Amino acid sequence: MPSSDLFLITGATGKLGRVLTPKLIDGGHRVRVLTRRPEAARELFGDKVEISEGDFSVPASLPAALNGVSRVLLLSPISERLAEDQIALVDVAKAAGVARIVKISGSDWTVGTSFSGDAHKRVEDHLAQSGLDYVAVRPNAWLQVSLAAVAAQIKRGEAIAARHGAKVGYVDVRDIADVAISQLLAPKVAAGPLVITGPDSLSIPDIAGLATRITGKPVGVSSAVAGLPSGIEGFEAEVVKQFFVVIAQGGAAGLTDTVERVLARKPRSVEAYLAEELGAA
Ligand SMILES: NC(=O)c1ccc[n+]([C@@H]2O[C@H](COP(=O)([O-])OP(=O)(O)OC[C@H]3O[C@@H](n4cnc5c(N)ncnc54)[C@H](OP(=O)(O)O)[C@@H]3O)[C@@H](O)[C@H]2O)c1
Repeated sequence: MPSSDLFLITGATGKLGRVLTPKLIDGGHRVRVLTRRPEAARELFGDKVEISEGDFSVPASLPAALNGVSRVLLLSPISERLAEDQIALVDVAKAAGVARIVKISGSDWTVGTSFSGDAHKRVEDHLAQSGLDYVAVRPNAWLQVSLAAVAAQIKRGEAIAARHGAKVGYVDVRDIADVAISQLLAPKVAAGPLVITGPDSLSIPDIAGLATRITGKPVGVSSAVAGLPSGIEGFEAEVVKQFFVVIAQGGAAGLTDTVERVLARKPRSVEAYLAEELGAA
């Protein structure tokens, strides 16, 4: 049953937000999005959302975005400003009478090992001290981000480039969205942080094996070193290099039962994602 609550989604036009926001709208909920690009939000969500043009880094733009809002999904991209920006929004949210914040944090293993994990933790600590009702969601590596280039290589009939031989518990963005929405809607948030993974921990050779089964054609692993994903540069590139060190040591291999516990269903698998991407689902 849709409530009368107004939900503010930040990062709605991004990779997670554009999956999460339509799910919330489809549930009949009242949604406002904060964006620097109102035309992009309009194109994605039509007239089914309120659009608040604003910028984390422009404090004067935040009170209007939070006016009348009861619950907030807090997400912003990896940047040197992440902690500062998100803390500013938390403070404005508190002053505006927001009841709950669901924060999309970094992967659990990035805390203490990377600039961005530490920035996310600063925001979590600020939330803990704020007195607001909140929960932090710490998703493992998103398979739609981490494996997009891999799926493209398989489609082109190429061998998959392996940056490392380590296993990773990739998680489907749709499961992150579902867990976050459950926490926005629940009468009470679950005890956090909610560390989310997929059901399997897989290496690139494991994934090549899955792709071979799905396509019926042998998919190999190349010794070519995969570059950083396209479009990643500057501070974000430094952070991603920090991630790769931990991943290569097996730091992202762990699995949790969070999706099953919170959603009472199994998490989506890499195999199902590959089958969709390779047209075999
Ligand atoms: N990818 C992973 O494997 C992974 C794993 C764990 C955690 N995470 C976390 O997920 C987050 C990134 O999520 P994503 O990939 O969905 O983001 P994304 O695709 O990079 O999109 C960024 C979003 O943030 C908004 N935004 C950027 N700067 C803004 C500003 N100054 N003011 C207002 N809005 C701003 C953008 O909106 P407009 O451009 O419309 O303004 C856009 O909607 C990061 O915090 C990262 O640490 C990612």
